[in-house]
Amino acid sequence: VEHTPVGAGAAYFDAATAAPLHPVAQEALLAALDDGWADPDRLYRAARRAAQLRDAAQASVAESLEARPDEINFTSSGTAAAHWAVLGGLAGRRRAGRFLVHSAIEHSAVLHAARFVQSKSAPSAGSAGPDETGSIEVRVDRLGRLDLDAWRAAVNTPGVALASLISASHEVGTVQPVAAAAQACAEAGVPLYVGLGVTHR
Ligand SMILES: Cc1ncc(COP(=O)(O)O)c(C=O)c1O
Repeated sequence: VEHTPVGAGAAYFDAATAAPLHPVAQEALLAALDDGWADPDRLYRAARRAAQLRDAAQASVAESLEARPDEINFTSSGTAAAHWAVLGGLAGRRRAGRFLVHSAIEHSAVLHAARFVQSKSAPSAGSAGPDETGSIEVRVDRLGRLDLDAWRAAVNTPGVALASLISASHEVGTVQPVAAAAQACAEAGVPLYVGLGVTHR
């Protein structure tokens, strides 16, 4: 398959939004549209075939991520995934607290979900304390890079339920120190949601 998605001589700089499908992925998608068009939750033959294809995709993603297939959920958009992660994460951790730690450059899907669930006021203390929405925002430097010391302090604030870190800046492309941020969360016992929509490796 020839792979010339943007046309000869043209350059494409918006990979944070979408990237051309890998030829193998494109082939798999087209085959699935032919063969797995039915509603996978029905019981007739075409539907069972669709369910088979969906389950195989789920198993394949799970294997790549070293997760269990039942831990993989497909959503229709990045926004839906972020809403699930934040709403579900905060709800599931209600006993631990209600605060969300997030970088200053999270996707609006994360921020809107957080504001939806958090309405009660809390003490405000800049990057080290929750604001009135129950969010603790952690700054980034002039290169768009997360301040890890502030992050560490934030995730150790009493009442933190969840942390959220986008994997790279949408605006300037700075890749965030996700492993170090995750380590700080692990040490604090705080689950971390990482929005990977902007990182293609
Ligand atoms: C980290 C992250 N979260 C959420 C979204 C929203 O995704 P969508 O536009 O598919 O709703 C994006 C989109 O770029 C994203 O990068």
